Amino acid sequence: MKLLLLGSGGREHALAWKIAQSPKIEKLFIAPGNAGTELVGENVSISATDFPAIKSFVLDKGIDMVVVGPEDPLVKGVYDFFNTDTSLKHIPVIGPSKEGAQLEGSKDFAKAFMMRHHIPTAGYKSITANNLEEGYAFLDSLQPPYVLKADGLAAGKGVLIIDTKEEAKKELADMLGGMFGDASKTVVIEEFLDGIECSVFVMTDGNDYKVLPVAKDYKRIGEGNTGLNTGGMGAVSPVSFADEAFMQKVDERIIRPTVEGLKAEGIDYKGFIFLGLIRVNGEPMVIEYNCRMGDPETEAVMLRVESDFVELLEGIAEGNLASRILTEDSRSAVTVMLVSGGYPEAYEKGKVITGIDAVSKDSIVFHAGTKKDNDRILTNGGRVIAVSSYGRDKEEALAHSFAGAKKIDFDKKYFRSDIGFDL
Ligand code: AMP
Ligand code: GLY
Repeated sequence: MKLLLLGSGGREHALAWKIAQSPKIEKLFIAPGNAGTELVGENVSISATDFPAIKSFVLDKGIDMVVVGPEDPLVKGVYDFFNTDTSLKHIPVIGPSKEGAQLEGSKDFAKAFMMRHHIPTAGYKSITANNLEEGYAFLDSLQPPYVLKADGLAAGKGVLIIDTKEEAKKELADMLGGMFGDASKTVVIEEFLDGIECSVFVMTDGNDYKVLPVAKDYKRIGEGNTGLNTGGMGAVSPVSFADEAFMQKVDERIIRPTVEGLKAEGIDYKGFIFLGLIRVNGEPMVIEYNCRMGDPETEAVMLRVESDFVELLEGIAEGNLASRILTEDSRSAVTVMLVSGGYPEAYEKGKVITGIDAVSKDSIVFHAGTKKDNDRILTNGGRVIAVSSYGRDKEEALAHSFAGAKKIDFDKKYFRSDIGFDL
């Protein structure tokens, strides 16, 4: 099979690494990829949202399947672009339709969907400039802290958690006034949930589903989960509190009603569903949906998928996922992200990365924001490299990843050395 993977981050390197191991793969292309994906496939310099260029490439190379890494092409309708084009229709795209991608693309859509299907989530109200007074009244009815979310995609920055009501009211008005552009023309105000979070990844063909190994990511820049939110500073899998009893509840109350709800509403969804969950008093609730795999969770989760991942992708494409086998590696897997100094605020790019070859065989180095410059590898983003490792337990896996994180170097490198501390 010739497979095209869209995207360029650490998630895509991890997906490419796993996909390339399948005996079913004759050729793997990544568009646009990074300096790491090049080690397991062939990079193609096409943006993941340039649909006409993707079309030409796919037809020219005889691509058999397209797997979509990031949310952007999905929310912009790459699935529908293929599905409505007579020359592309027969090529499966792993990822939901534009309508299905609204689970991530619109918080208001996701909350209304959860309400319709009785899926446990925080109480909320959606506010626009037309009902601002209702927003103020809803804030008056809540206890601090206050959660304000831009309805649309805001590059992971659209959620504000605010301590005082006065500030929450001011921020609500500012968001509606365009703080996140069109993404915050509608704002979802949510009740604050107090608990511990985890990420659950579901693969679905629209009828059946398989649940990938559970992971926990570490979003804050600072140790002890402090400071600004980032794309993610590390991840561990498995997650001790997500035990069989907890996952049973997740399955019954969240996963099944989500897949059945999509089907009942006629929403075309053949891809990944990312459930951002929180455990409140022992019970799972949904914080958010995403329509793709998580980053950096994928850099740990792919290590724990033992079976052929392409088998599963084919199951999605052919609508027979139920008959495919998913086996998990029982070892622990973790990932530690090396980031550019200053991230998630302003940072510099183009720093020379050294020491990757010195990392021991106990770790797998996934590139996130890197690019090749002749023989050198340069930093090319905030999140630069994910060092993933196996271990008999998470402590052993983390020891390998931290050792690797110390060997790799670039100017102003930073990583969190407390990944997994709260489990
Ligand atoms: P989201 O983009 O919706 O995942 O929100 C980003 C982060 O904000 C989540 O991972 C949570 O840590 C936090 N968060 C979002 N919604 C809530 C909520 N209702 N209660 C508490 N924390 C929340
Ligand atoms: N790690 C969280 C995300 O991918 O959105």
